[in-house]
Amino acid sequence: MTRAVTPRAMGTDHERLDGRAKVTGTAPYACEYPTEDTVHLHPVQAAVARGRITSIDTAAAEALDGVHAVLTHLNAPPLYTEDRELAVLQSDEISFRGQLVGAVIADHPEIARHAADLVRVTVDQQLHDARLSTERDDLYKPDVVNPAFDTDTRDGDVETAMAAAEHTIDQRYTTPMEHNNPMEPHSSIALWDGEQLTLHDSTQGAHTVRSTLAPALGLAPESVHVVARHVGGGFGAKGMPHANVVLAALAARHVPGRPVKFALTRQQMFPLAGHRTPTLQRMRLASDGDGRLTALAHDVVEHTSRIKEFAEQTAVCSRNMYATPNRSTSHRLAPLDVPVPSWMRAPGECPGMFAAEVAMDELATEVGVDPIELRLRNEPDTDPETGLPFSSRNLAACLQQGAERFGWNPHDPEPGTRRHRDWLVGTGVASSIYPVFRMAGSTATITVDDAGNHLVEIGATDIGTGTWTALTQISADALEVPVERIDLRIGGTDLPEASVEGGSTGITCWGSAIVDAAHRLRAEHGDSPQANARATGSQQDNPDTGRFAMHAFGAQFAEVHVHADTGEVRVPRMLGIFAAGRIINPRTARSQFLGGMTMGLSMALHEDSVLDPRFGHVVNHDFAGYHIASNADIGDIDITWLDEDDPYVNPMGSKGIGEIGIVGTAAAIANAAYHATGIRARDLPLTPDTFL
Ligand code: MOS
Repeated sequence: MTRAVTPRAMGTDHERLDGRAKVTGTAPYACEYPTEDTVHLHPVQAAVARGRITSIDTAAAEALDGVHAVLTHLNAPPLYTEDRELAVLQSDEISFRGQLVGAVIADHPEIARHAADLVRVTVDQQLHDARLSTERDDLYKPDVVNPAFDTDTRDGDVETAMAAAEHTIDQRYTTPMEHNNPMEPHSSIALWDGEQLTLHDSTQGAHTVRSTLAPALGLAPESVHVVARHVGGGFGAKGMPHANVVLAALAARHVPGRPVKFALTRQQMFPLAGHRTPTLQRMRLASDGDGRLTALAHDVVEHTSRIKEFAEQTAVCSRNMYATPNRSTSHRLAPLDVPVPSWMRAPGECPGMFAAEVAMDELATEVGVDPIELRLRNEPDTDPETGLPFSSRNLAACLQQGAERFGWNPHDPEPGTRRHRDWLVGTGVASSIYPVFRMAGSTATITVDDAGNHLVEIGATDIGTGTWTALTQISADALEVPVERIDLRIGGTDLPEASVEGGSTGITCWGSAIVDAAHRLRAEHGDSPQANARATGSQQDNPDTGRFAMHAFGAQFAEVHVHADTGEVRVPRMLGIFAAGRIINPRTARSQFLGGMTMGLSMALHEDSVLDPRFGHVVNHDFAGYHIASNADIGDIDITWLDEDDPYVNPMGSKGIGEIGIVGTAAAIANAAYHATGIRARDLPLTPDTFL
């Protein structure tokens, strides 16, 4: 069993170990590795949302100088996968607009692109359906919601409690389809050498790419080598391999010995790299005269693709947040002719806590109690869902200390009464929650060299989060040596197996494996291991998993200005305060929270993938039309956290921090906008017309 690690390096600021390489341009992303005899791939995409390909004319493309091959479903090698997102070029069926239906391999990217334009695809178009509504008669209940939660829960009797309650809220909230837009697009270099495939891939999990692609290609896992040393962001979009990397691998098989480069354009990312489903949510709250909840119901309708199910766990957050004797949650899916939805930062909690925390603000107004006080009155003693004690739950402290630091008091509850020149001014608050997930399968190896340095190897990924630095600090403390004595190697399948960087689990899973390896090294080789001493360890089962409910919490505050004449919304000031266990590296952790809140502001004000149901595609599929927050949108963001001591979560005492920063931000902003204007916004984003 692994014991707790005493913090020395952990908890102190360290510069990013990969920082210098990144800012000097020497940290290569997937497509930046030097290659020779490179060929380039450009895809052919479906121009309709549903149909069958009746013929493909590739003659004009093949006739171009510099074109090596045009791949279609007629000549592509077979794939062995049930995953219809990944089964590229395996059938004549078109299931969403933008789907991959062909690929050109050519000497130059320009030629590949031009040739792709010359491929004539004739389609027997069928009626498609891409319109989400709560009224559809084909809504269905998935078996589970992401990753494996119950679809529905029911405790007590919400309806009876609603009918008997002194105060009730019954409202509908929507969040739009949204797209992850990491700086580095999804990109790969694929190279076949005999039956060995090497992929430089932009991914959140090198080992996941191997374990997914190897069987699909009919290869042993050892025959697939994935390198992902530096990754320019992912946010979930690179958590599961998508069709692009499969296509790169297929295409490279046609030109053995020559590396194939395939980087998605920004526009190609929209149908191919996953998205967050739009959500249609109904929140019902009932309370007594003091605002103590007597019922809470959270019911969600969202979409999935027809070829692969992804069920975002939007209502799951409502199972753990507040105390109430009567509670129900549900998820229903509409199967549409749309691209495959997937992970986007805090899938579930992010859209779910928008509805849930705006509803709580509405209840506060209805009851006439301060929104912070309302939340404090509904703090549960134990986890409402399981009845287990929380390993640590410091939501109340976050709300109280956050209020102090933000200057919440006095908070005149009357909306629409504060004005600064032409701007209506308001402040709002919302809670944050994110579970402490664990994923299986992480292993680390530690080797001591002649100089007494420790080589720590694990196939983990740093997608810009600071993993490299934090894992080095954990390694140093686990081995009881200074950080300078650690040489951490991550980012590839040449290193021991590691779980995907997703669900804010990286530090928990990889750190636990490193701690176990360090423990074994010292158990087997003593406290001062000699050169060449070596040990392998892996993440052990956590005996406290079934004894405690484990979540990170936080509170978010926003000051919002709404222009009285134009309805323009500005957010000059935000504060986020979090309780997320031990913070391994304050410097990189602050960036994680800051990035999450910035993305939450972006969600609140801008992000909206406009799916035209007539054609089934996202109209604003690039940065001209899909707006994300820029520097000019961001004012002062104050980030802080509580020193939380949680001995149960893992040997480091840390909870994940990659995702909780985005949870609740949009609700805090919408609540502040209500306070500023008296207009209750229940639909994101908060475009100016909302307030006119
Ligand atoms: Mo995160 S959306 O689990 O990569």
